[in-house]
Amino acid sequence: MIIAPSMLAANFSRIGSEALRAKKAGGDWLHLDIMDGNFVPNISFGPEMVRVIRKTVPKMFLDVHLMCLRPEILLEPFAKAGADLMTIHVELGAPVEGLIWKIKSLGCKVGLAVNPPTPIQMVEPFLKKIDLLLVMTVNPGFGGQSFIEECVPKIQKAAEWRRRLGFKWHLEVDGGINVARAAECARAGADTFVSGTALFGSGNLKRAVAKTRAATLAAAKLAK
Ligand code: DX5
Ligand code: ZN
Repeated sequence: MIIAPSMLAANFSRIGSEALRAKKAGGDWLHLDIMDGNFVPNISFGPEMVRVIRKTVPKMFLDVHLMCLRPEILLEPFAKAGADLMTIHVELGAPVEGLIWKIKSLGCKVGLAVNPPTPIQMVEPFLKKIDLLLVMTVNPGFGGQSFIEECVPKIQKAAEWRRRLGFKWHLEVDGGINVARAAECARAGADTFVSGTALFGSGNLKRAVAKTRAATLAAAKLAK
């Protein structure tokens, strides 16, 4: 199981030490939400912030989630800043295929995200080409929203494809993930859990990461 604290919920005034804190707390990856004020109605941060995080945690896996209308202009800056994986949204339509190749050509792993209202079938043509499938469990744009229950069948469907067709990609969930929701998603087949508010707002980050991990492991075991 991979627990990926979302830095969107961290204290931006000391982002480097927050990244270090998330690492020391047992986070496996750091999830970095890039919002462009177009694809989503909010703006978060850019490559410079990613570069600062990369400097502070040189070996940490940086999972960059691009909620951006024109990722093509941002891929290179984020790759240079230290992204290990970049996720784009299937809702972008025709450009998706080319963006996947561009991300790979920059030496990064590639993720594909699907928003709550978008049918999971939209990602089917790309399943052979990705390293991670991100099933959004809130409408992207803001941290601290409530988990949308209707997304769970999409996780189940993706997990079924992965099992049946032998894919190796990570199945990630993002949005409103707390201990209980993480367990629910693990039961449905997710293996990678983004969590912002629940982790950083917990008062004890280390304990919150450990609890989330334990809950997902127990749920996955039960589901077998
Ligand atoms: C939502 C972002 C999420 C967000 C999750 O637009 O993609 O990654 O940071 O935060 P919480 O866990 O607060 O829902
Ligand atoms: Zn995200």
